[in-house]
Amino acid sequence: MHVEGADLATLDLQHHKVLADMRNSGPIVWLEAIGGWVVLSRDLAVAVMRDAETFTVDDPRFTTAMVVGPSMLSLDGSEHRRHREPFAAAFRPSDVMSRDADRIANLAHSLVSELQPHGRAELRRDLAGPLAVAVAAGSLGLDEQPADVLLGWYDLIVAGVDAVSRGEALTATAREAFDSLAAALRKVAGRSDTMLSTLVDAMSETELVSNAAVFLFGGIETSEGMTANALHHLLSNPEQLATVRGDRSLIEAAVEESLRLEPAAARVDRYATRAVELGGVSIAAGDFVAVSLAAANRDPQHFADPGRYDVRRPNARTHLAFAQGPHVCIGSTLARLQTRAAVEAVLQLLPDIYLTAAVETTGIVFRKPVALAAAWSV
Ligand code: HEM
Repeated sequence: MHVEGADLATLDLQHHKVLADMRNSGPIVWLEAIGGWVVLSRDLAVAVMRDAETFTVDDPRFTTAMVVGPSMLSLDGSEHRRHREPFAAAFRPSDVMSRDADRIANLAHSLVSELQPHGRAELRRDLAGPLAVAVAAGSLGLDEQPADVLLGWYDLIVAGVDAVSRGEALTATAREAFDSLAAALRKVAGRSDTMLSTLVDAMSETELVSNAAVFLFGGIETSEGMTANALHHLLSNPEQLATVRGDRSLIEAAVEESLRLEPAAARVDRYATRAVELGGVSIAAGDFVAVSLAAANRDPQHFADPGRYDVRRPNARTHLAFAQGPHVCIGSTLARLQTRAAVEAVLQLLPDIYLTAAVETTGIVFRKPVALAAAWSV
């Protein structure tokens, strides 16, 4: 067994270097700091994510389920399909494009227009974050809920999940926050004009609330990171930025390449249901297996010069940022629409924008810049 000794702090701050070093030991390596295997190659990552019978999410160690209840994120097999399919049907890419593209473009445009007269902004908190909340909440019909209230619930629920992960009891504040969110979602589901109301016959009210919560919160932190990462990559690569400014049809490719280089959800977690050989190692039944999407997306066997940001990379779209297999992201169309719209609005309304401070990207599971300070002339 290859055992790697990097600690969590190093994994956080020097994520890609740690993963690249681990890759020297093989395509799947035991990392003591997380108490599990890390899958590093793209081929093995795909194989694990497609084989939910052997590598399941349905395990008592998956703490999110303890807070929000069973949902598509924490189930596999026929139960997973029962929870997921009604949402997947409501968010088919072609329907999302026709229903949400204009709303999202307008949202991004008005957020950037509001920032424009100030001459400077912190693009993660001032643009990527508010856009992510408005898109996710608006898609469920939660528009009436102020963004700061939603984010307050989100923070308390995440803190609750963290406490449970540390082996502590679920805090009362996390429980209250989830109850408030559940009440708001039930109200929306009861209105006849909302997407959630079309799902009430497909599952119980409790299941609907759990899945809607997963949808909402699955969309906020990740999309904030995705937009902030894309802006970071473009603004810190002047040649690539000039290329995209010269041909705006490359925005789509620029966003895909950013998803490859820094997938906002850097890893997905699975648990082995049986003993299995994989990539030359023996995995025991019950072992924790983390699929590093960040590492798979920089697999040198698949992507040439993988650390380089190149908007013309021919196979950028074969990244795994939205996972694969039965749990493939349901919100990828919404996410792509908002990041492309944010980049489009920034390029259009802030033609001489530049970064004003060094950017540090952190996170072990969710990766994004700590801050993205930028300025432009007014
Ligand atoms: C509006 C935006 C988004 C929404 C509503 C959303 C929603 C969801 C939902 C509901 C799932 C669970 C699917 C299942 O378990 O069957 C999921 C999975 C996933 N999403 Fe998203 N998502 C969004 C944006 C993003 C972004 C921006 C990323 C990364 C760049 C991302 C990465 C993932 C990944 C990697 C999974 C698989 C999780 C796993 O296999 O354990 N999502 N998403």
